[in-house]
Order: sequence, then structure tokens, then C-alpha cells
Amino acid sequence: MPVRPSIHFIFRGAPVEVSGMAPRETLLDWLRLQQRATGTKEGCAEGDCGACTVVLARARGDQIVHAPVNACILLLGQVDGAEVLTVEDLATGSAPHPVQEAMIAHHGSQCGFCTPGIVMSLFALGQDYAGAVTRDQVCDQLAGNLCRCTGYRPIIDAALDACAAPAADRFSANAVARLKAIKALDDGEDILVGDEARFFASPASEASFATFYASHPDALILSGATDVGLWITKGFQDPRKIIWTGRIDGFDAITRDGDDLSVMAGAKLSDAAPRLADIHFDLGEVMRRFGSTQVRASGTVGGNIANGSPIGDLAPCLIALGARVELRRGDDIRLLSLEKFFIAYRKQDRLPDEYVRRVIVPGLAAGSDFRAYKISKRFDEDISAVLGAFHLTLDGRRVAAARIAYGGMSGVPARAAMTEQACIGVELDNEATWDAALDAVARDFTPLSDMRASAAYRSLVARNLLRKAFIEIGGAREESTRLAHRGRTHAAE
Ligand SMILES: Cc1cc2nc3c(=O)[nH]c(=O)nc-3n(C[C@H](O)[C@H](O)[C@H](O)COP(=O)(O)OP(=O)(O)OC[C@H]3O[C@@H](n4cnc5c(N)ncnc54)[C@H](O)[C@@H]3O)c2cc1C
Ligand code: FES
Ligand code: FES
Repeated sequence: MPVRPSIHFIFRGAPVEVSGMAPRETLLDWLRLQQRATGTKEGCAEGDCGACTVVLARARGDQIVHAPVNACILLLGQVDGAEVLTVEDLATGSAPHPVQEAMIAHHGSQCGFCTPGIVMSLFALGQDYAGAVTRDQVCDQLAGNLCRCTGYRPIIDAALDACAAPAADRFSANAVARLKAIKALDDGEDILVGDEARFFASPASEASFATFYASHPDALILSGATDVGLWITKGFQDPRKIIWTGRIDGFDAITRDGDDLSVMAGAKLSDAAPRLADIHFDLGEVMRRFGSTQVRASGTVGGNIANGSPIGDLAPCLIALGARVELRRGDDIRLLSLEKFFIAYRKQDRLPDEYVRRVIVPGLAAGSDFRAYKISKRFDEDISAVLGAFHLTLDGRRVAAARIAYGGMSGVPARAAMTEQACIGVELDNEATWDAALDAVARDFTPLSDMRASAAYRSLVARNLLRKAFIEIGGAREESTRLAHRGRTHAAE
């Protein structure tokens, strides 16, 4: 298999080849420091503010999809195979792009610092969804773009105006040629930029990945970089050996396997979200509030599981559903229940040269019901203080079995074993039978106090979330239990 010693992508309408970059180099640094493309701003440098938003256009079948990403935490190597579009690309000569025109017409910019990022987020939305864009969709799209001046109403109006119909812009006019140029980048070669001691590697097949990782077990696996990027920009880490999973053929596949959903580790959070929402509405809601559009467009399911964070959102949901995780080391594959993967704070059951390959998520069986609630200080783009996931098997109106998992309550995402036992026999119509289960939550967990929440708050909220699950599964109208409920989907509205 030939190995390419460079990355290649399309920039300013032409193919570009880069070799010799430091493995840790970010796309934002390359744009601003090397290309002097300073339209893209640096605000927080940690994926929160969206000032650095650029768009990666990639081929999906015979379509181009446009993903807004945070250039500050994306490593340069991760743009291989994409067309990189920045705010400087949008105007045609002196004529602003329709998104820019709409921002001007609706007074969507004041100090202007957030504006390039906002324009790029709206450009991506318009390219892929124009003609069918709702106000809720605009709000979700902008959750990762902070503006401290305008108050958002003019920006949302500009978005609805600009996305009302497909833009008659040069991107759509040149779509066929652009697709051809993007597809031409896909040569199926493994990439190794650097040498054995310091490299950015990008295997094109899982066989290459498994072999290469086995011979470099000290390398850092990189998927979406929405965690790793911050270790670099905020933790000043300088990983010398990086293996990026983003080009591995089939590593992002999401397929049905009987009643199970099979999610390969490299599946983007944005692709997994609708498939998880098919299992239960609440999983869609948790995913909608997972970071931002930019974070979900880069971040992966495997990255969220592998990093082992006690406050990662997916793990408690998937544990409650009974998910299993598949690990691969060389040619050996093993499967274990997801809760067993998390051993202690930031310690997972993973050997040095073993990687997360797949997550298998069972569907909900007949007679069972599910709820998941994320509690965070902000509705949008915030990490959970507590996340509770509740999977009850019912015998009529009585709980026959329970799988309950929490995030934020201990050093790992964990099942609530005593609470699960105490749930058996709970009658949904008789609140007097709930107390033993509600009291058991405090016996299962001794949470910590930190800047997200105090221990007392966490304990109380965890108990109350179980109570809320009983109330909702018992049949309460969600309008009475939720700020953002099924009929009206955005808390800000
Ligand atoms: C602004 C912002 C908001 C966020 N909001 C949320 C949120 O709401 N909820 C939440 O849960 N998280 C959130 N996160 C954290 C992060 O987005 C998630 O954990 C994400 O799923 C990480 O995936 P990734 O592909 O980007 O992982 P990466 O950053 O690429 O990797 C994370 C870790 O996993 C390892 N890894 C990656 N893939 C594999 C693999 N296949 N096998 C073995 N190891 C692997 C890496 O080596 C690294 O240790 C947020 C992050 C940011 C920057
Ligand atoms: S600079 Fe704030 S998200 Fe990148
Ligand atoms: S216009 Fe000033 S931050 Fe948005």
C-alpha cells in the first residue's frame, strides 16, 4: 500500500498539498499565521465561541455536504480530502454572498467579531438545507456561535431570509466541478507526514490502522479532536505521534443489525444523533444539546466513549440502554458491556494498543420505556452537571426491571445498582411506592462538589430526575414537565 507523505485539500478553489506540518498544528493557526487569512477569528480557542468557524465541504455519495467546524481545535491534518471554505471565499468580487447581504439588511452585526463565524455557520446551513430551514433549526445551528452585541433576533431573521431558498451563488453553480475535485482527492492511500519519531498519520483502512497502532502503541488516537484539540490549545500539550481515524474506510458506518444499532467508533455525533433519536426522542434531545453544531460535526461517538469522562453525555444513556463496546487490538476483537469499560476516574478497560471499534446499542423492547435528562447551567452548549438515563421494563403499570445510569455522580458514568433493585415493584400510579427507589439514589452515589454543581445539588437533582421519569413514564403530559417539550422544541423561544 503506497503511503502519502503529505495531506491534500482544496483551498481558495485549487488543490493544496502540505507536508512537514507539526502534528499538533491547528487549522486556525495555518489559516491565520501561514495564509494570513485573518477573516477567521480566534476567540476562546476551545471550541465554545464559534468565532473561528469555517466550513469543510466533503463528498457524500453524489452530494457535497458542508460542515461548520471550529478551526481553533481542528488539527490541520484533519482537513485532508476536504474543500476548506473560509469567510474570504464567500463574496464574488465585490458582491457579498446572500448570507452576508442578509446580515447587513437585518443589522445582524455590531462589533463584528463574531460575524465571520456566524456567516460561515449560516452559509453551511443554507448550502445543505435552504428552502426547508425552520426557526428552531437556526437556533440550534447558532448554539455554537456566541454574539455579545446583537441579541440574536436580527441574526435569526437574517438566517431565515438567507436560507428561505437555495442561494443562486457560485458554490451551487459550480457544484458538479467542486464534487469532482473533492472526489479526486480520495486516493485511498495511507498518510504519514513526518517520521517514526514524530508524525501525523492517517490510515485509509481499518487493517492499516490496527497494524500501525500495534507498532506505535504510544501514539495518540485522534478522531474529531473536540477533546484532544483543547489539550493542545489549553493544556499546551505537544503530542508527537498522532493517528487520525477520520479517513478509515467504513469506520464511520452506522447500520442496523436486527434490533441493534451498530455504530462504528468514527461515526460523527451529527450522524449518530438522528439514528439515536429513532430509538427514543430523549436521545435526540440529549444529542441536540451535545456541544454545538460545530462540535457534533467533528466529534465522534468513539471519542466520547474512549475519553472516559464522568460527565460525557453518551455513556449514561447507552449504559441504561444496555449497550456493548467492541475493542480491537491487532486482529483480536473483544466485546464488553459498556459499564464495565469504565473502571475508575479516567481509567478504562483498554490495553495500550487496543482501540474502540464499535458501540452496539440495543433498541427498546416492547413493554419498556426510556427517559434521559441532561442538567447543565446553560441549555445550549454546556457540559452536564448531572445526566440521568432511565430504562424501565413495565408489567402493566408496575416496574418489573430497571436499568438506570448517571453521569456526573461519580468518577465514571455508572449504573445505580441499589436504585435499580428498589425500582422493582414501583407502581406508577401510587407515589407512596416510589420512596424506597428515590431514597436509594443517595446510597448509590456520593458525588463531588465542583464548579458545575455542589454535591448536595447533584444528589437532589439525581433523585428528582428519577421522580420525573416515574411521572413522565406514568403518562404525564410533557408540556407540564419540560421547558422544551416535543411540540415546541427550543428553550430560548
Ligand atoms: C465546546 C465543546 C462542547 C462540548 N460539549 C459536550 C457535551 O455537551 N457533551 C459531551 O459529552 N461532551 C462534550 N464535549 C466533549 C467532546 O466533544 C466529546 O467528548 C466528543 O465526543 C469527543 O469526540 P472526538 O471524536 O472529538 O474525540 P477526540 O478529541 O478525537 O478524542 C478524545 C479521546 O478519545 C480517544 N479516542 C478517540 N477515538 C478513539 C478510538 N476509536 N479508540 C480509542 N481511543 C479513541 C483519544 O485518544 C482521546 O483520548 C464538548 C467539547 C467541546 C470543545
Ligand atoms: S475560537 Fe472560540 S470556538 Fe474557536
Ligand atoms: S457583533 Fe459583537 S459579538 Fe457579535
